Amino acid sequence: MHKDVEYVLYSEKDIENIVNRLAKQIEKDYNGREFVVVGLLKGCFVFMTDLVRKINLDFAIDFMVASSYGSSTKSSGDVTISKDMSVPIEGKDILIVEDIIDTGNTLEFIANYLKAKKAKSVRICTLFDKPQHRVNSLVPEYIGTTIPDEFIVGYGLDYDEKYRNLPYIGVLKPSVYS
Ligand code: IMP
Ligand code: MG
Repeated sequence: MHKDVEYVLYSEKDIENIVNRLAKQIEKDYNGREFVVVGLLKGCFVFMTDLVRKINLDFAIDFMVASSYGSSTKSSGDVTISKDMSVPIEGKDILIVEDIIDTGNTLEFIANYLKAKKAKSVRICTLFDKPQHRVNSLVPEYIGTTIPDEFIVGYGLDYDEKYRNLPYIGVLKPSVYS
């Protein structure tokens, strides 16, 4: 285990089971549809690669870069898009893939943005959800698991751009951010 990690919240096997379950749900719901899976970078990059390889359908893949965080562990509420989608959106069913939803600021902004660009539908798949911090009514259609009010890292999630490469989900030692 990494020296900054206090304990492992989800092991590689735990995550694999969650991802398989989500992929099966998506496969069932999106069968026969023309859809685009859009990952929100950077946090989605590990989850997205595992998820799309489990979805046995034809679909386009794209990425966006949006952020509402600096190096702090609290959301700022300001969302900026620094990389937009590159495949056509209009008339398509869009499935946004996110690592974790906290306040919901980022996702609400992106979902509205894609709807304004005339997406046929916009749904959200998040690996982790922290509903207790939500500042809006956003409810993702696909949720890997809800988690307690703790800052987690690994499997794509960072603290100050570190720990994204950990294969498990860990909770950091308080000493790391104090
Ligand atoms: P929101 O706009 O507050 O929902 O912020 C969501 C984004 O905040 C996620 O995509 C992550 O980048 C980041 N985030 C929120 N909670 C955590 C956490 O526990 N660990 C790592 N990143 C987090
Ligand atoms: Mg993120």
